[in-house]
Amino acid sequence: MEEGIDVKNIGLRGVKVADTRISDVDGEKGVLIYRGYNIIDLAKSSTFEEVSFLLLNDRLPTQEELKRFQSELVPERKIPETIFEIMKRLPKSANPMDVLQSIVPILGTYDLQLNEETREANLKKTFRLMAKLPGIVAAWDHIRKGKEPILPRSDLTHAGNFLFMLSGSLPNPDTARDFDICLVLHAEHSFNASTFAGREVASTHAHLYASITAALGALSGELHGGANSEVMRMLLEIEEVDRVKSWVREKLQKGGKVMGMGHAVYHTEDPRATILRKTSEKLAERTGGRKWYDITRTIESATKEEFRKLKGKEIYPNVDFFSASVYHMMNIPADLFTPVFAISRISGWAAHIIEEKFAEAQPKAELYRPDADYIGTYCGPQACEYVRIEERTK
Ligand SMILES: CC(C)(COP(=O)(O)OP(=O)(O)OC[C@H]1O[C@@H](n2cnc3c(N)ncnc32)[C@H](O)[C@@H]1OP(=O)(O)O)[C@@H](O)C(=O)NCCC(=O)NCCS
Repeated sequence: MEEGIDVKNIGLRGVKVADTRISDVDGEKGVLIYRGYNIIDLAKSSTFEEVSFLLLNDRLPTQEELKRFQSELVPERKIPETIFEIMKRLPKSANPMDVLQSIVPILGTYDLQLNEETREANLKKTFRLMAKLPGIVAAWDHIRKGKEPILPRSDLTHAGNFLFMLSGSLPNPDTARDFDICLVLHAEHSFNASTFAGREVASTHAHLYASITAALGALSGELHGGANSEVMRMLLEIEEVDRVKSWVREKLQKGGKVMGMGHAVYHTEDPRATILRKTSEKLAERTGGRKWYDITRTIESATKEEFRKLKGKEIYPNVDFFSASVYHMMNIPADLFTPVFAISRISGWAAHIIEEKFAEAQPKAELYRPDADYIGTYCGPQACEYVRIEERTK
């Protein structure tokens, strides 16, 4: 490590950059709070729509407010035909996250309030985008197969409508509720990489669509939201419970990572993983897909055991670990798992972007501008002499 670098700041771990009222993660106790409410209670009793209201408004809605919130979202599900036309011209092999990250700024060009920087206008932009994301993700799955997108229904919940647009048939109500719980669990997680990317872009006074696009880029990486698709690839590669132990041992001994295990903040079990473990088991029983649940559970115990032997410490599953088998049993294709994460996280991102732009909770927001120690070529205080290209030897 170079002299002068504060090791603690690498990766900004533990560096506080703002105050937030939106969520709190206690990595030691394994507690996640959205606006004062425990994620366990929200997953049990709330819905994605209610949680989105909570994240965006700093309080739970009344019945009347929730009804209004839902009725404002539903008409915004409609996606301009031109967007589908653009999507039809993209290579069919395009990764769904890349498609989403390309379409969001284009959707922004249709928003008449794009550059209107009031809190109200940003909430309206959030509704529009939040309502449309599921339609974009589902439409891409049809378009890439040479089929027409399935249009939204107005009588279904946000969760149920996505499953409908993806499969073309009405989802089992229990499965729709399980998916709703997944959306609740993924909606917010404090200053993670994608949220920070979104806030950082918002701090330049860029508009909401630009900030969300940045967040999508950060989410796509396998160390962040991309991990859920990677977990599914791992499950498909292992395929049999009997192969788990040797696969995990070899992976860890070679210094590889078991996707969905470990977390930058939780040093105990991620509470979302605890809930999703149960969801995965329930779904396995309902759909007869026990194999994927069993492989996942065996990877969990084998990784814990091997990790203890190799590193002398504990490792726990994170939110992505069980969401892979859950989504697979809901017939969601593996490369849509990360876009599904985005469908949910958009409410947390938007809450943070609005907080960054308008909140009073933090010392007046500033443009994020970290620093770095220069360790490149140095020829003294006067800098290097510029040698013309024809006189240069190398
Ligand atoms: C999320 C993640 C990047 C956090 O990493 P981190 O902050 O470095 O975690 P830790 O400091 O606790 O890691 C300690 C050690 O465990 C190792 N480790 C962490 N997660 C691991 C995993 N999933 N598989 C194998 N080893 C892992 C690290 O490489 C590190 O090893 P070292 O001490 O030899 O350098 C990491 O756990 C990871 O890559 N997990 C897999 C990807 C994933 O699931 N991402 C989604 C996160 S929600």
